[in-house]
Amino acid sequence: MHIKKLYLKNFRNYAEEQFEFSPGLNVLFGKNAQGKTNCAEAVFYLCTGTSMRARRDRQMIRSGEGRAFISCVCQGRYGDVCIEAQIDEGGREIKVNGNRISRNADLLGNVFAIFFSPQELRLIQDGPDERRKFLNISISQLSRSYYVALSRYNKILEQRNNLLKNRDISLITDTLPVWDAQLCRYAAEIARRRTDYIAKLAPLAGDAHAYLTDGQEKLEISPDKKYKGNEEELAVRLFDELTANYDRDIRLGFTASGPHRDDIDIQINGQDAKNFASQGQTRTAALAIKLAEVEIFRDVCGETPILILDDVMSELDLPRRKKLVSRTEGLQTIITCTHAERVLYGRQANKIMIEGGAIRR
Ligand SMILES: Nc1ncnc2c1ncn2[C@@H]1O[C@H](COP(=O)(O)OP(=O)(O)OP(=O)(O)O)[C@@H](O)[C@H]1O
Ligand SMILES: [Mg+2]
Repeated sequence: MHIKKLYLKNFRNYAEEQFEFSPGLNVLFGKNAQGKTNCAEAVFYLCTGTSMRARRDRQMIRSGEGRAFISCVCQGRYGDVCIEAQIDEGGREIKVNGNRISRNADLLGNVFAIFFSPQELRLIQDGPDERRKFLNISISQLSRSYYVALSRYNKILEQRNNLLKNRDISLITDTLPVWDAQLCRYAAEIARRRTDYIAKLAPLAGDAHAYLTDGQEKLEISPDKKYKGNEEELAVRLFDELTANYDRDIRLGFTASGPHRDDIDIQINGQDAKNFASQGQTRTAALAIKLAEVEIFRDVCGETPILILDDVMSELDLPRRKKLVSRTEGLQTIITCTHAERVLYGRQANKIMIEGGAIRR
């Protein structure tokens, strides 16, 4: 799977620009603050409906303008897919092959993209919400039903939390079982899919990590241990857990257990990575996880995703840079960097120089 063309209008610092990508290696290069990451962001947004950095869509509209429009044409197994997104103050409209989609779930699964930047260190260093976000974005691209379960779970959770803040205790205890029955169905699906995903991811990430470190270090990933058994058993157990903790949740005013509080355990050489890993180790582990993600996409979808490597080369030592580039053989890769020659090592690439929100031709 690869992106062939990208069009940007009033997006970030781009007034209007059109990109053509090759199916192999593409290098966006140029000085700092010229628009390289912005271009990468547009590609990721069109694939997933989510920006990896904007909190609100409207931050992506070019300053002083009222509306951004971006579109791309991608080629996959079943032919070309055209995705368009229009973003304005009122919201956004996304079209796939000319058809307007009403839910983000209908965008997912068309074009797959994996994004890696130095920020991805947060996946290892920060709190559990970064790891959940990673799982949610990654699994949602692979499974529309996961995304739907997650959206419904979040909606019911919000209602449950609002209810917990109510002062009428008998209203709370009468209503909670009704919410919880629904909540647990979705929670069980989320938990099971995450567990399955990590079971696939862990060995692949371990291999990628061994490759990047010449077998010097060992990366181990495991899911939240409390989820064992099939989905029905899980739903029952989650329901019981919620029921047993009514008092706690009422006192706190929110739901303190469930998939929205889970974490994954990441260890390097037998030690908790979050608290013990060095910067370089953290970076390599995060990269190994992303490379494992590529393999999962290849396996599950029968197609390679678009790999976006934003500014990661400058942070790796030479042997790891070379290894990373050689791992990208056979999949479309978009690399951003300040100096194209520092990432290529003689490999052919489509080089695009960016200057002031435009391609320098
Ligand atoms: N909504 C917006 N409107 C106009 N300009 C914006 C908007 N959002 C961001 N910019 C500008 O876009 C510029 C380029 O940002 P970008 O992150 O793409 O740079 P870059 O080329 O990746 O640089 P670096 O090498 O430092 O990572 C920044 O100067 C930023 O101020
Ligand atoms: Mg950048």
